[in-house]
Amino acid sequence: MLFRHNDKYPYLLKYMNNKIFSIADARIAARRRMPRIMFDYVDGAAGSEYACVQNITRLDQLRLQPRVLVNTENRNLGKTLLDKLWHLPFGIAPMGMCDLTWPGADKCLATAAVKYNIPLALSTMASSSIEDTFQRAGSNAWFQLYVGQSEQVGFDMVDRAAKAGYDTLILTVDVPFVAPRPREQRNGFQVPFRMGPKQFFDFASHPRWSIDTLLTGIPKVANNVKEDTNTKFVRNESRGKVDWSFLQRLRERWQGKLIVKGVLSPEDAVRIRDSDVDALYVSNHGGRQLDSAPAAIQMLPLIRDAVGNNYPILFDSGVRNGEAVIKALALGADFVLIGRPLLYGLGAGGEVGLSTVIDLLINQIDATLAQLGKPDINDITQDVIVP
Ligand SMILES: Cc1cc2nc3c(=O)[nH]c(=O)nc-3n(C[C@H](O)[C@H](O)[C@H](O)COP(=O)(O)O)c2cc1C
Repeated sequence: MLFRHNDKYPYLLKYMNNKIFSIADARIAARRRMPRIMFDYVDGAAGSEYACVQNITRLDQLRLQPRVLVNTENRNLGKTLLDKLWHLPFGIAPMGMCDLTWPGADKCLATAAVKYNIPLALSTMASSSIEDTFQRAGSNAWFQLYVGQSEQVGFDMVDRAAKAGYDTLILTVDVPFVAPRPREQRNGFQVPFRMGPKQFFDFASHPRWSIDTLLTGIPKVANNVKEDTNTKFVRNESRGKVDWSFLQRLRERWQGKLIVKGVLSPEDAVRIRDSDVDALYVSNHGGRQLDSAPAAIQMLPLIRDAVGNNYPILFDSGVRNGEAVIKALALGADFVLIGRPLLYGLGAGGEVGLSTVIDLLINQIDATLAQLGKPDINDITQDVIVP
């Protein structure tokens, strides 16, 4: 296919190697190559986008304590989470409609999950099905559940995930209502997609994305529709019915590991821990939900204190480099999930761009461990943060 690009095209690899030295570089490249409406879907956030910016700024403001004269020649980045050893301390956060970033993005994420031995959280809103993704990523794949108006549609997906072989389910609870995101509104972003003159011009000025998308097929939401009952996908349908009693019903139904995502309150965290949930996922959804929410990293140590030392915590929101991964681990996370940076990589250069971003993060984590005199990532504790 003329416009398809992946690592079989050496010019792209060369371009990536010459241009992408940070996540910020990947973001700029993605912005250039993606239609504005799609870039803004990924990059945008709720309200004035203050929460999104704060996530990044608060992480940047934390300082790490260098230590010297420690032998750090051999370093270990592997981490055990939920009884499984992963090669890296981070995984792929659940993100809906990734194929809007670049055609075939979901498949690239699944391939990367296997290649790097990291978890991939497949979103309810993904363009790839629960079954196909398990075929591609096997036990590296987790399933992330949203429940809208119909609990039955939600439970059907849970049953499908169990049948396909998934062992880990993430219930996302911080989207009781899809928050208005001004950039999406300004661009007329909606699902199903509607094309007006503004969008036409946007696509026409990004022919590579547009032709490749046309040739690959317009991405569709693959999971939360039931064709036999004509259930239609409605992106903005209320997800506000999900409450503590639902969590209890889900816990009874799902036999595998259960993670609850989108927790920012220590009080909620304790109640979730006591509801037989296997792990907590601290996140403010990358600032996409409540503009006045605290930065996720602010709440992390408070939540760690509340739930105690031995309860697994995952973290995302604002991680833009390897140092930020280490900071989150130091402040109480057991594992970190990466969101937008991976979509910037995909938007910048498909499969090659994605690997470039993951390799960048690995190198930065590796370099940071050496600087901190901590050759094993499992030895990162709060003392690496300058008080
Ligand atoms: C384009 C996009 C789509 C997302 N879709 C979902 C989703 O379907 N389910 C979910 O739990 N979180 C979703 N999230 C939130 C991410 O899982 C994660 O919490 C967030 O990206 C972290 O913020 P950061 O990317 O700024 O680090 C989405 C985020 C983005 C950027």
